[in-house]
Amino acid sequence: MTINLRKEQQESLQRLPLQYGIAARFFFAAMDLAAGKKDTLGKAKLLEILACIPYREWELRQYVRLTHNYHNRRKVNWARDIMEWGRSAQDNEFYHLLLIQEKMREDGMKDPWFLATPVVVLITGFYILLSKVLAWVNIKAAFRFNAEFEDHAEHIYAAMVKENPQWESEPADNPIAREYAPELRTWADIFRRIGLDERDHRNHSFHYGETPHHIVEYEGMPEAG
Ligand SMILES: [Fe+2]
Ligand SMILES: [Fe+2]
Repeated sequence: MTINLRKEQQESLQRLPLQYGIAARFFFAAMDLAAGKKDTLGKAKLLEILACIPYREWELRQYVRLTHNYHNRRKVNWARDIMEWGRSAQDNEFYHLLLIQEKMREDGMKDPWFLATPVVVLITGFYILLSKVLAWVNIKAAFRFNAEFEDHAEHIYAAMVKENPQWESEPADNPIAREYAPELRTWADIFRRIGLDERDHRNHSFHYGETPHHIVEYEGMPEAG
């Protein structure tokens, strides 16, 4: 079925962001301090570099759980579900990164200072540590934190499409976009789709965090779990 991406972008714009916890608020404030308050492609690139990390850390954690709980079918299924979802989510996040890279290349944009390798190593190092601790100490808190991260990303993409009306007429005619979503023709739709992917990640995080009342449904959404 065809998803109405414009309608879903409006839904994202109209829905207030979640009530973020202290850790997420601190993290978003630190990002604003480094990358500026304005939502830019450079800032979105940093978000996407970070976005893959929790899924990888959950996967590592689940491998250990599998080793220790192979005799418990319920735990095995749960761990495998998380791993399967995590793999597809991190591949999807990497597509987002490739698409932003392609858009910035087409527009002749240079990476801002905070995407210099030493800065990225520092920020990702911190995020790996945070994700690791959360994954091992309290996986439910890890899902909640990730849901907040993804909710934040969803709102950023919806706003960026609104703030860049020129994207509506810019064709997304490149191999990465064709691989990602061959049915989409413009950069505006590509970024709308990315925003909706973030909503899917947000919804799945709530599903595994066992707080399904936060899930925001839409027509054509993939099933969680
Ligand atoms: Fe993403
Ligand atoms: Fe995401």
